[in-house]
Order: sequence, then C-alpha cells, then structure tokens
Amino acid sequence: MSDNLFDIKVGNLCFKNPIALAPMGGITSSSFANERAKDAGLVIIGGYSLDAATQKAASEIITRGREEFTSDEPLKLIENEIKAVDEGPMIGVNVRSATIEPLIEAAKIIKDAGAILELDAHCRQKEMTDIGAGQALLAELPRLCDWIGMIKETGVVLSVKVRANVIDDIELVRKIESAGADILHLDAMKEGFGADLKLIKNIRDSTRMFLICNNSVTDIDAAKEMFTRGANMVSVARGVLEDTHLISQLVRDISAQQEDMGWYNAPKHICRGEGDLRGLAFCCLPVKPCPVHNNIMKLGYSAQEFTDIKMEFAKGTMLEFGDSTCFGSLVWCCKISKPCFLRDGVLETLGLSDAEYMRLKKELADYIIDNAKKPINGPKN
Ligand SMILES: Cc1cc2nc3c(=O)[nH]c(=O)nc-3n(C[C@H](O)[C@H](O)[C@H](O)COP(=O)(O)O)c2cc1C
Ligand code: SF4
Ligand code: SF4
Repeated sequence: MSDNLFDIKVGNLCFKNPIALAPMGGITSSSFANERAKDAGLVIIGGYSLDAATQKAASEIITRGREEFTSDEPLKLIENEIKAVDEGPMIGVNVRSATIEPLIEAAKIIKDAGAILELDAHCRQKEMTDIGAGQALLAELPRLCDWIGMIKETGVVLSVKVRANVIDDIELVRKIESAGADILHLDAMKEGFGADLKLIKNIRDSTRMFLICNNSVTDIDAAKEMFTRGANMVSVARGVLEDTHLISQLVRDISAQQEDMGWYNAPKHICRGEGDLRGLAFCCLPVKPCPVHNNIMKLGYSAQEFTDIKMEFAKGTMLEFGDSTCFGSLVWCCKISKPCFLRDGVLETLGLSDAEYMRLKKELADYIIDNAKKPINGPKN
C-alpha cells in the first residue's frame, strides 16, 4: 500500500491514512498502539493527568475500578511513551489538567517530539469534572478558549476533544476554531442513539477545522457514514478492544475506496439533506426548485453566482467537457457512485478515470467553499 495514497495534512504534519486510534485512559499506551494500531494514520495515547489535582482524581477513579495512567512525573512518562511508539503513525497525546501551566509544559515537549497535543475537554468522570477538568471546560467556554490560545502560543499542533450534544455544538466549534485550535476531535455521541451523523454534517458546514469523528465505529460502513458527512478522519476506541485487527481492516477498506474513487471522504448528494456543502460540487445547474438553492444561500451565492463560480473552475479542466450530459458539462455531473452511462461515456472518451474525475470534483468543492461570499466559519472573533 502506498504511503502517498492520501494527501492528509494539518499544518506541517502528514497522516498516511484517515484512521486513528482514539485515547482510552489507562489503556492506550505505546505498547497498546504498537500492537493494535501500527497501520493507523494517527495514534492518540493517554489521557494523561498532568497536575496534582487531576492525578489525585485519577487515583480516585482507579480506586473504584476504572483504569487510568498515573505517574509522579507525567511529562517524563509522555516523553518516553512518544519515543516508544513504533514509526508509522502520527502521534497525538491526550492530556487533562485543572490548571494551564502543566499544559504549556506538556505542549513544549510534545511539539519538540513532532506530535500533536490533544486537550481533553471530554472526560465526564465526576472526579475530573468536579475539579474543573475534562468536560467541565465546556461549561466555561471563556476559560477553554483562553487555554487554547495560550497552548497555541507554544506552536504545538492542537486538537481539542469534545463530546457532542452537551452544549450548543455549533457555537462551541466556532469558538474553538476562533481561539486557534487546529483539530476538532468529536465524540459524536447522542445518548441512546450511537453517532449523531446529522450533527457531523452540521459541524462540517460550520468550520474549516480538521475534523476527527468517532463513536460506535466497528466496521467500514459506520466509518463511511462519518466520512460522507465531512469527517477528515475517523477514530476508534472501544471497537479496538473488541477486535484487535479493526484498525488494519479499516485502513485496508478506506485505502481501497481511495484507490477506486480518489476522494475517500466525498460527500453525499445534498438532495436528501444528508450531504454537506461540499456536495454542491455534484449539483445540477440551479434551474429548478430543489435543495441547491437553500444550500448556495448559506454560502452567500445567488443562482447566477453559483453557476459562474462552477464554470470559472471548470474552464481549462476536463470538467469543461461533456456536451452530451444533462447540463452540457461534467461540472454539473453527479458523484461517480451514481450510475450514469452519459457521464461515463464522456469520461471514457476523455480517458479520465473515476478517481481523476472525483479528484477534480474535490478541487471544485474546495473552490466553491473557498470563494464563498459568506464563509462557513464566520468572521473570526
Ligand atoms: C475506557 C475508556 C477510556 C477513555 N478515556 C478517554 C480519555 O482519557 N480521554 C478522552 O479524550 N477520551 C477517552 N475516552 C473516549 C474515547 O476516546 C472515545 O471518544 C469514545 O469511547 C467513543 O468512541 P468509541 O465508540 O469508538 O469507543 C475513553 C473511552 C473509553 C471506553
Ligand atoms: S441541484 Fe441537483 S443534485 Fe443538487 S440538490 Fe438539486 S436536484 Fe439534487
Ligand atoms: S449526465 Fe448523468 S451524471 Fe451528469 S448530471 Fe445527468 S444524470 Fe448526473
């Protein structure tokens, strides 16, 4: 399998594929990652408790039978654990603290090691939330945003891990982005329902941040539901405890999809309300009443402006061709997974593979969103 199959980057960090090991306190050590996630694009070790208050909370959690990582020297432990992860995946380090200073110290070490710092705003164990750590940060957005800003001053690549459906997610995501975070790691949990796919789509349409999603993924079909709503990466936690080969299998499946289709996280069509705004790349000429109009409005485009922006992109590319298609150009054509002999005939004549067609559609989607009159992440605070 080629290491260049995917072009996935955050800042200057590259990921070899879009499958990640999610952190599980007391479990996801370097040896766990080496055993079960060597094929992953990203392994997130931890969570590590950095200050005296979170270390005490971790000890109390252990007393009631839950696993946690503990150490009198958590920074030394983190440094050693990063070194002990086998070469291959990018490394993330999930950390909690009730105070900012240890986070800054950890950020410097993690940055020097070329890894990602992940701030845990997710843990809902009472011992942690009682001292203002983990999910308690969601109840104090100004503090969360200040911390993000201060951590980012170290230059580390920063992921923020949150649980969905706790507070207003769109407001949360916009604030996290404005504060300077690079990655949103979203546990898309909807209590009693598994993953909240609609929310992933809504978040995709509200931020340009790199988006890692998880919850209840145990096979490629579940992962694809997240990718088609705009996840850049899908992570797995409990599934890896059940199935030691899950990550390798997911990597094989998504790599096969990328080879065939050229756009591993291509959106759904927007007709049925499931596709995010990237799906406008597959939309028809906006000449009839249908959901395209509501969606282009979100980006501030009139029907004419949307027509112009797509034609502007198509000019000089293979998407310009396609006289025999519904709207006279491939730029208006559907996703490759929708069978169509008219489009496929044009692709064959042009000698354009399915993957090349879809790569052009991906560039088109970026172009439509980059040039929006109303940017989807709104003005920076
Ligand atoms: C035993 C266990 C420990 C966890 N510890 C952490 C943690 O320390 N930090 C964190 O951000 N998330 C933690 N999580 C949450 C997972 O990273 C993940 O978001 C959640 O389990 C949903 O994904 P899944 O359905 O693939 O398990 C933990 C989950 C489990 C099951
Ligand atoms: S323009 Fe075409 S693809 Fe887009 S929503 Fe309307 S009918 Fe569906
Ligand atoms: S020609 Fe086929 S792919 Fe193109 S818009 Fe028409 S139905 Fe869709």
